[in-house]
Amino acid sequence: MNPKAKPGVSEVELIPPAESLFESLRAFGYSFSTAIADLVDNSLAAESSAVEIQIADDDELRVAVIDDGHGMSREELLVAMTPGSTSPLAERQQQDLGRFGLGLKTASLSQCRRLTVITRRDGTTHALTWDLDVVQQLGRWVALEPSEDADLPFADQIGDHGTVVVWETIDGPDGVELEVGSRRRAHAVNELTTGLSSHLELVFHRFLEGEKGRRKVNLAVNGRSLEPFDPFNRNNPATTHLPSEIIHYAGTDVVVQPFVLPHFKKVDTVTWARYAGPRGYLRGQGFYLYRNRRLIVDGSWLGLKKQTPITQLARIQVDIDNRLDREWRIGVRKDGAQLPLLVKDRLKELIDKIDLQSRKPFTHRGRRLSSAQRYPVWNRVQDAEAISYRVNVENPLITGIMEELTDVARRHLGQLLELVGASLPIEMIYSDFGTDGHSIGSGSVEDDTLEAGVVSMYQKLHDAGLSLDDIEAVLLAQDPYRSNQDKVKEILSLQQRKDQ
Ligand SMILES: Nc1ncnc2c1ncn2[C@@H]1O[C@H](COP(=O)(O)OP(=O)(O)OP(=O)(O)O)[C@@H](O)[C@H]1O
Ligand SMILES: [Mg+2]
Repeated sequence: MNPKAKPGVSEVELIPPAESLFESLRAFGYSFSTAIADLVDNSLAAESSAVEIQIADDDELRVAVIDDGHGMSREELLVAMTPGSTSPLAERQQQDLGRFGLGLKTASLSQCRRLTVITRRDGTTHALTWDLDVVQQLGRWVALEPSEDADLPFADQIGDHGTVVVWETIDGPDGVELEVGSRRRAHAVNELTTGLSSHLELVFHRFLEGEKGRRKVNLAVNGRSLEPFDPFNRNNPATTHLPSEIIHYAGTDVVVQPFVLPHFKKVDTVTWARYAGPRGYLRGQGFYLYRNRRLIVDGSWLGLKKQTPITQLARIQVDIDNRLDREWRIGVRKDGAQLPLLVKDRLKELIDKIDLQSRKPFTHRGRRLSSAQRYPVWNRVQDAEAISYRVNVENPLITGIMEELTDVARRHLGQLLELVGASLPIEMIYSDFGTDGHSIGSGSVEDDTLEAGVVSMYQKLHDAGLSLDDIEAVLLAQDPYRSNQDKVKEILSLQQRKDQ
C-alpha cells in the first residue's frame, strides 16, 4: 500500500530502459586511476592481504584486479553486480570502504564495455559478466553467467578464495584508440601504469605501511609491489608534528593531526621534489582527509582559507570513519568531501591558533634575533662564534618567486641567496662605517623604479594572502622603501583602491 496514496491519484510504475541508464552510469567522472582505486576499496573491504593489478596489452588492452579476500557466494555475486542493490542508508561494517552499492559497476563501466567478476569461496567459483553491447541489443537488464567449466580470463590466478574483476573492450583511458603494438600506444599504456601506481601509493599509503595494530596489505601493479607514499614525510626528523586534536562530532571522532613539511633547505633535492607530490607544494597544502584510513581529499582547505605560499608546507591529516558519509557529502567516487558546519568552525579555530608557517631553516646555526620584524629581508644570526647575516628565504616575496620556478631553478636561486648572505662584505662595510659612517646608505632610486617595485610586490604579496598592513610591514622593513615611506604608503593605498 502506498503510504502517500490520495484519492484521485493513481500509480504509474516507471522502469528505466537498461541500455540508456547503463550508458549514463558510465559518466560518473572517474579517471582510470580513481576507477581502479574504487575496486581496490572493495578488495580491502573483503579483507584481502594482497591485491594485484594487471594491465595487459597484447592483442587488446585488458585489466584485472585480483585479490585474496573472502570472495562471494553466487547470491552475493548477483547482488554485487546489480547496480544500486545495497541502500546507502544501510549501516556498514566498521572497515567497509563502500556506501552506495555502485562503485564496482560505475567505476568499471566508466573504463570498459565488458565487465566480468569471477569469485571463489570454499572452493566454488562463480562468474558473471555485464556486456554493454548485449544490454544494448536486448534492451533489458541481462547479465551473462558462464558455466563453471568455461575458460574464464585470469581465473587461474585466484587462490583458495578471492575475487578477480576483469575489464575488456576498454574505451575509457586516453591512448586506447592508438594502434596496438605502436610506440605511442606502448607509451600511453606505460603512462597509465605509472600514473596508477603513484595514485595507489598515495591513496592507500596507510594500508601499505601497515599501521600499528593493522594488517599490512601488499598492492602490486604488473608484478611490482607498491611503496607507501606518506604525504607528510613524517619519518623525516625535519618534519614538524604539531599537536593533534580530536573534534567530537555527532557521536564520531574527527582526529586532526597537523604537520609542517621540511623547508627546502632542510632536505636534499630529491626529497624536496618527491614530497611536492603530484600537484606541487602550493596546491598540495591543506587537509588530507581519510575515511577509514583511505585518502579521499589530498590537499585542499575545503573552503576554510586560501592556498598561499606562506602556508605551502602545511598539511593536516584528518581522520573520519564511515558513519556520517552524508554529512561529509562523500560521493560514489570517494574523491571529495565537504566539511560539516560544526567541524568547519572548530577547524577554523584550530588553524588560526597554530603556526602553519614553515619552520625556519637557520635555527640550528644560531638564535634569530630580529624576530620583532615579521618579514625581514635579512636575518641576523648569532651563534657562539660570530654574527652573520642571511637573506630570509621565507620572506613572502621570495617564496612567491620560488613557487613560480622549476625545482632546479628554485634550488639555484636558494644557493645564490645563500651565497649573497655568506659573501656579504661585512668587514668592508664596518670599516667604511668606522671612517665615515654618514656616507654609507643603500643608494637612492628613481620614482618610476620605486613605484614599479612597490606595485609588483603589492601584487605578489596580495596574491599570497597578506593584508595591507602586512604588505606595508614587509616593504618598509627595507630600503629603498623605508627611506621613502610616504611615497610607498601612497602607492599602496592607490593599489588597494584599484583592487576594490
Ligand atoms: N573484491 C570483492 N570481494 C568481495 N566482495 C566484493 C568485491 N567487490 C565487490 N564486492 C561486493 O559487492 C558489493 C558491491 O560493490 P560496489 O563497489 O558496487 O558497492 P559498495 O562497495 O557496496 O559501495 P560503493 O558504491 O560505495 O563502492 C560490495 O558491497 C561487496 O559486498
Ligand atoms: Mg565499492
